[in-house]
Amino acid sequence: MSNNSKKLFLETYGCQMNVADSEVVASIMEHDGFTIIKTREEADVILVNTCSIRENAETRIRGRVQGFSELKKKNPKLLIGVIGCMAERLGEKLFDQEKNVNIIVGPDAYMDLPLLVKKAENGEKAINVELSLTETYKDICPSRIDETSISGFVSITRGCNNFCTYCIVPYTRGRERSRNPESILQEVNDLSEKGYKEVTLLGQNVNSFVFKNSISEVSFPELLEMVAISVPNMRIRFATSHPKDMSDDTLRVIAKNDNICNFIHLPVQSGSDSVLKDMRRKYTQEWYKNRIEAIHKIIPGCGISSDIFCGFHNESEEDFNQTIELMKWAKFDLAYMFKYSERPGTFAYKNLADNVPEDVKQRRLEEMIVLQNQISLENNQGDIGKVFEVLIEGISKRSEQDVYGRTSQNKVIVFPKKEYKIGDLANVIVKTCTKATLVGEAV
Ligand code: SAH
Ligand code: SF4
Ligand code: F3S
Repeated sequence: MSNNSKKLFLETYGCQMNVADSEVVASIMEHDGFTIIKTREEADVILVNTCSIRENAETRIRGRVQGFSELKKKNPKLLIGVIGCMAERLGEKLFDQEKNVNIIVGPDAYMDLPLLVKKAENGEKAINVELSLTETYKDICPSRIDETSISGFVSITRGCNNFCTYCIVPYTRGRERSRNPESILQEVNDLSEKGYKEVTLLGQNVNSFVFKNSISEVSFPELLEMVAISVPNMRIRFATSHPKDMSDDTLRVIAKNDNICNFIHLPVQSGSDSVLKDMRRKYTQEWYKNRIEAIHKIIPGCGISSDIFCGFHNESEEDFNQTIELMKWAKFDLAYMFKYSERPGTFAYKNLADNVPEDVKQRRLEEMIVLQNQISLENNQGDIGKVFEVLIEGISKRSEQDVYGRTSQNKVIVFPKKEYKIGDLANVIVKTCTKATLVGEAV
């Protein structure tokens, strides 16, 4: 790291895939001689890794990019790059819409970044939004940006083939590709050697992972077990699972391997069959419930979370009530809730009118949130008196005397630090709780 090396500031929005991708980008740029810095004021290049999932995600990022004008005034040579999903969705148009942007790079073109930065330095337009059928960055060892973290991400698939009618991801991330298991295992082992205690295997639809070559085929449950066995001292998590691909085989692998966390994020989106059909989710309410029952049967005590959004095309009060009923039935520990945001380019944009009024969407969203808060609180209250193994992730923000960590079920728990260090496992009894946090004491 020389003092006169160029400095890169990376800012990341969106999902965990983007967090993982930013580490790939950091690694590519470090190999090109850049130093990653934590203060944008000193940067020669700022890259913003962006998200297009809902309109408000893009609005927020645009505000951010416009805010860089001040920095550009102070340092006219400063280069701003927009990378990731928004770069892919908008392409060239971004140059016209956002005057501060010098570089535009889509999620499959990061290998080209060093070249594009050089082009931009020469005052040329620098853009690559080519999608790939094969790129998995399998030879890049991601730079871990947050060195204090004990938990890392490893992408196992890229892209998505599901084309849910409302969703922009298949257009911004291209076709689904599964990464070579050998390179996945190598990266997981690298995390382990660096002292990480937990890894989350990532993909838009992880359980559709399948890697084929001329001699063999590796499925998701097989990969999950290979990872669990290869790093017995690490906790394993994975996200996101699609209900249509949630197999009993996967559930049995989780039940069998102690180091695979008992937690599944299983987005339901809606409780109404007609809405699910319009969303092209490829399952029914009955199928979803059957998957939840299978989880409870095969992995007793498993934590479950979900994504749900209201106000999609033609969603009636009756449809919405079915979502509410499903939430009451499923009793998710946690749910990420949204209102439908129409995305240009999707099937729904072209064919399914965005016909639920904004005030109705808002009211439905608030109703879901109130209900889910109550369910989360009740679920947490049900944990009082139980003992959980907790991986300690950090010092509590409220008190230096306390640490926080997560249970296998992914619940955050705070308890007195005593002799414990970050990265330790502790058995903790739950004493009290809020809707978001358990509070306990090590036993
Ligand atoms: N691959 C994951 C989720 C990716 S996006 C899956 O299939 O479950 C994360 C969540 O954003 C989705 O689960 C969905 O609930 C929400 N979402 C996606 N597109 C949306 C849109 N156009 N409007 C509102 N919410 C959306
Ligand atoms: Fe989007 Fe559906 Fe793919 Fe998830 S599975 S990323 S919601 S298209
Ligand atoms: Fe957003 Fe792209 Fe992830 S649209 S949610 S950053 S895949």
